[in-house]
Amino acid sequence: MPLPQPAPRDVTTPSGKTLPANFEIGIAELDAQHKRLHALLERLRVAVGKHYGYATNAILDELSIETRIHFAVEESLMRMLSFPDVETHVAEHLTLRDQLDRFRKRAQDHEVTDDLAAFIEEWLNDHVDRFDREFVEHFLRAGVDSGSSPQKQA
Ligand SMILES: [Fe+2]
Ligand SMILES: [Fe+2]
Repeated sequence: MPLPQPAPRDVTTPSGKTLPANFEIGIAELDAQHKRLHALLERLRVAVGKHYGYATNAILDELSIETRIHFAVEESLMRMLSFPDVETHVAEHLTLRDQLDRFRKRAQDHEVTDDLAAFIEEWLNDHVDRFDREFVEHFLRAGVDSGSSPQKQA
């Protein structure tokens, strides 16, 4: 029998932006990491919109590091908890990392456009909804504490 999932609710990022109601997957630590990525995307949107080349590069660098850390956390959890579709998910992470690296290269060559942040945001939302959501039930059944988050312990 499937585990009960939290009802969709409005999700707000640290900077106050409202995200799609289905953005949260119900594991607090991973949801917090996704929101931090969104907060970086909001900063990226502002920097690109104002044509702040140096800031755009710096935020893309930060986004790349945060994304790699987040993907490593998910991949470790999937492997430790024997999630069956781990390699499909890891391959998707690799595709997204390559895409982000290409954006960083374009930004260094001053080729970024206003739709850059929107494009990255779309892949983040799509990945969370189509891929991350798939491991939630497996993680919860394996004993992951859905409410455990360093932000809550602080
Ligand atoms: Fe994720
Ligand atoms: Fe993922």
